[in-house]
This record gives sequence, structure tokens and C-alpha cells, in this order.
Amino acid sequence: MLPENPTLEQYLAHAAELAERGAAAFAQANDPDALEAARIQFLGDKRGELLALQKALGALPADSRRDAGRAFNEAKTRLNAALDDRRTTLARSTSTGPALDLTLPARERWRGGRHPVTLVIDEIVGIFRELGFTIALGPESESEWYNFGALNFPADHPAMDLHDTLYLGEGALLRTHTSPVQVRTLQRHAPPIRILAPGTVFRRDPFDASHAPAFAQIEGLAVDEGISFVDLKATLTHFAQRFFGATRTRFRPSYFPFTEPSAEMDVACRLCGGKGCAACKGTGWMEILGSGMVHPAVLEAAGIDSERYTGWAFGMGPARIAMQRYDLPDIRLLYDSDIRFLEQVAE
Ligand code: DAH
Repeated sequence: MLPENPTLEQYLAHAAELAERGAAAFAQANDPDALEAARIQFLGDKRGELLALQKALGALPADSRRDAGRAFNEAKTRLNAALDDRRTTLARSTSTGPALDLTLPARERWRGGRHPVTLVIDEIVGIFRELGFTIALGPESESEWYNFGALNFPADHPAMDLHDTLYLGEGALLRTHTSPVQVRTLQRHAPPIRILAPGTVFRRDPFDASHAPAFAQIEGLAVDEGISFVDLKATLTHFAQRFFGATRTRFRPSYFPFTEPSAEMDVACRLCGGKGCAACKGTGWMEILGSGMVHPAVLEAAGIDSERYTGWAFGMGPARIAMQRYDLPDIRLLYDSDIRFLEQVAE
């Protein structure tokens, strides 16, 4: 107990002893009731021991009050901390039920999905299927003749510079486009022909933000009597409307050895709506495919009478289209196999 008129020494000793005793009492309280009783004894706001300590401050000589006040505050802080500590511990150990709920459903793990490029290919194939196109496939290891010669590339033509690839020996190479499937199909089937040929192609391209050395292409080919550029334009415009939604399109004259005339097709830039932005290099347009009327020399190389039959064809890159659809700044995202990215776009 503190005497009526304590000295500073007596006050300090008592404050320390009180804090010590109170903290021990809190720590030993084994249930919430015992803890509450100890709280009232030490921190109660009517007869609590800390309150008595506070009142005793007034009985001290004025020049002792600073040191005594500090000792009081220390005791108060210590007691409150000890009380909080014990409260937390008791709450944890008395919470009802098992700590582990074995009835919770398992946390779901991503089990994979179709790659965004596959999704784009499937969707494109779906649209053309409705128009009567079927799927045709060809080999990735192709002969020079199918890859170039039959497609009317004159030997050493500069157009082949864009198609540098790995040569596998004896006139074989990794195909640089899916166009050889046109020739293989024309050789095997009589018109009318309407096919779509998806597949992987290879080029000596740098692996940068918009190029990959191996990438997907989709080839399209329609050959019949009386096919004209109107069929090409109408079909591809229909496709763009279906795939991209209501959108403006345009055809630009171009050159490919295997088509005459040739055209590239653009859609209004998905990102800026045609105003011009970084993604479309300020043009407002995004190129989605190359196309043209099948060159008579290609029909003849495949044994088709070019006086009787005409046709149109196109080739497009689904990865580039996926970049537009998913707003990707870099094509390498599609090849990195980074789950953090794929989880967001694969289905
Ligand atoms: N084979 C061309 C390329 O890879 C793309 C292409 C253009 C295919 C026009 C076609 C076409 O069928 O008509 O660059």
C-alpha cells in the first residue's frame, strides 16, 4: 500500500510493483471471467489500483510530479498491453469449432483451357463452316514446288525474300505459308471447292513484338465456275462483320505471285475506332488478311482448267487477330506460356 503522503521513491517503487503484479494477474487469468475480475482490480474506474496511483500524484510535492507522472504512464501502458494480450490469447483458444473446416470445398485450381489463338481459329472456322467451307490440312514439311513453284513464284523472285525458312534437304523445307494446301486440295478434288486450311508456318523472322518465327495461318480457297472478285469481297466483308461486329472494312491493292488481282483487307482499328492511335500507327486501319483471285497459273499447275474455273483465296494470321481482340501490345505474350496471362484469356 502507498502511505498517505508518499515520497517520490515510494511512489516509483509502488508504480513498478503495481505494474508487475497486475501484468502477472492478467497473464494468469484462465478464462474471461477471471480476466474481467483482474481488470476491475487493477484498471477499474471506481476503485482500481491504477486509479489510486493516479490520485496519489496530487499528494506529491510539485517538483516530483514529472518523474512520478512518467512512472504512472509506464504502469498504465504496461497494464493495458498485458490485458489486451491475454484477451487475444483467450479469444483464440476459446473460439468454438475445429480450427480446420474439413467440409469446405477445395480451392479451385486452373485446369487449363484453349489458347487464345486456338479460340480465334475455332471462331473463324465456325463462321466459314456456315458458308459451306470444309477443313483441309497439309504437311508442315513441304516441298519447294508446293511452297513456291506451283504458287507461281518464278525462280529467284524477290517475293521469296520474305519467305526465308529452314531447308530440310532434297527440295524439302518448313512451309512458309499455308498456301501450298491450295495446290494439294486442287490436285485431289474437282471443283466446286471451298476449303479453310489452318496450320503452323515457319519463317526466318525475328522474335519481336509483332513477329514470331513459327506462327499460325488460316488459308481460304473457293474455286468454281463463275467465281468473281464480287464473291471474294462479299464473303470477306461478311466474315469481318461476323467476327468483329459492325465494322468498316477496306481493300487495298497488293501483290502476291499466286493471285491476280491481289488485295489486302483492313478493318477499322479496334482500339481507336478509326481515329488513329499507336496500335494502328496512326492510320485508323488494321490489316487482317491478304487475298486475291487465284492466278490461272496456279489452277493450271494443279491440273484445273483455268478457262472454265476461277477462284479466290485468302490467308490470315490468327495471332495478329488475337492481339487485336485481346488488346495485346506484344505477340510474344501468346508464346510465352505464362499462366498469369493465359488464365485471363484462355477458355
Ligand atoms: N500466303 C500469303 C502469305 O503468307 C498470304 C496470302 C495472301 C494467302 C493472298 C492467300 C492470298 O491465299 O490469296 O504471305
